[in-house]
Amino acid sequence: MAITTSYKARSDAVPLRSFRAKGRPSAIAGIGVYAPDKVLSNFDLEQMMDTSDKWITERTGIRRRHIAEPGTTTFEVATKAARAALEAAEMDAKDLDMILVGTSSPDGPFPSVACRVQNELDAPGSVAWDTLAACTSFVYALAIADSFIATERADNVLVIGAEVLSRLLDYSDRGTAVIFGDGAGAAVVRPAPKGAGMLSWCLGSDGRGYAQVTCGNIEKGAYAAKDPNPYIEMVGPDVFKFAVDIFIRQATEVCREAGVRLEDIDLWVPHQANFRIIDAAARRIGLPIERVAVNIDEYGNTSSASIPLALEEAVRNGRVKTGDHVLLAGFGSGLTWGATLMRWA
Ligand code: ACO
Repeated sequence: MAITTSYKARSDAVPLRSFRAKGRPSAIAGIGVYAPDKVLSNFDLEQMMDTSDKWITERTGIRRRHIAEPGTTTFEVATKAARAALEAAEMDAKDLDMILVGTSSPDGPFPSVACRVQNELDAPGSVAWDTLAACTSFVYALAIADSFIATERADNVLVIGAEVLSRLLDYSDRGTAVIFGDGAGAAVVRPAPKGAGMLSWCLGSDGRGYAQVTCGNIEKGAYAAKDPNPYIEMVGPDVFKFAVDIFIRQATEVCREAGVRLEDIDLWVPHQANFRIIDAAARRIGLPIERVAVNIDEYGNTSSASIPLALEEAVRNGRVKTGDHVLLAGFGSGLTWGATLMRWA
């Protein structure tokens, strides 16, 4: 059972932290993804629990999700996306200064997923660590990369969002099991010309909402080693309202910081949690859905992997041109949220 608290996730009660990028600008120089071959459709789930394709499609927009074979580790899916990103950026792993992995499903408390990736890539000169901020992990990790590049303490940073969430799902809980999927996305971040790359940020956390989305018996500290069933649980309707609100407020803040009008966003890449959340926020921001990257129908919610999975697809389909204003925005357990507005370099 989810933890019961009186807290309601009302993000309007939280002051937002936003800032304009300073110092040397950074930009995404290459992006790569990986999704397991195995697909679990809504019709497959109908055979496993009391649900229907109609309910899942209408309430979430999800039709399928990719699921890793049992025994697959997060570092393995992360490494596959990392190799694809390095290839896209035409970069040798030996030139990496940092490897940052955002994840909600690390293989254990330690070693970090990032160190395992570093080992696989043979990138001995880099520093590697994980960022644990649930579905916001990729954006937080990107913010760290931007800061190190801005202050000239790193030139080449690999930022990965990777998940094997299927091992954290209770397939008797139809309220959560139908939503999540597995996958990974990675971006090589490098210095950009002045005026290009990441322009502004909005990052935040509201720990009062810690019980809204949880995994494992957190009140007993029974993480990973001791908890035989570290399942994801959430207060879905509350998180839904929080998500719509925080998407709108983050978009407004990063645009204000960068001096860009909301209507000048060329592509919004939101965390793929629920199509209805994305649609409601896009309408209120005033963005036509054609300017929103949506692939939740294919992957479900892949937590920290969802933004790079959607961005890579948009780039591959020619939806992003040099100079376009691209907004990445996430939210998740914690509660946490993060967004950046970039001018595509
Ligand atoms: N199939 C059929 N019926 C279902 C299913 C299902 N899979 N799941 C729930 N229902 C039923 C419920 O039992 C309930 O029935 P009742 O009215 O008879 O009690 C009814 O549908 C409505 O349930 P709600 O939970 O109110 O449904 P809602 O429309 O809110 O949709 C959902 C649920 C999809 C979870 C939605 O609330 C949501 O997307 N919330 C946001 C979740 C999210 O974004 N999480 C991100 C954080 S993840 C992270 O950080 C790792």
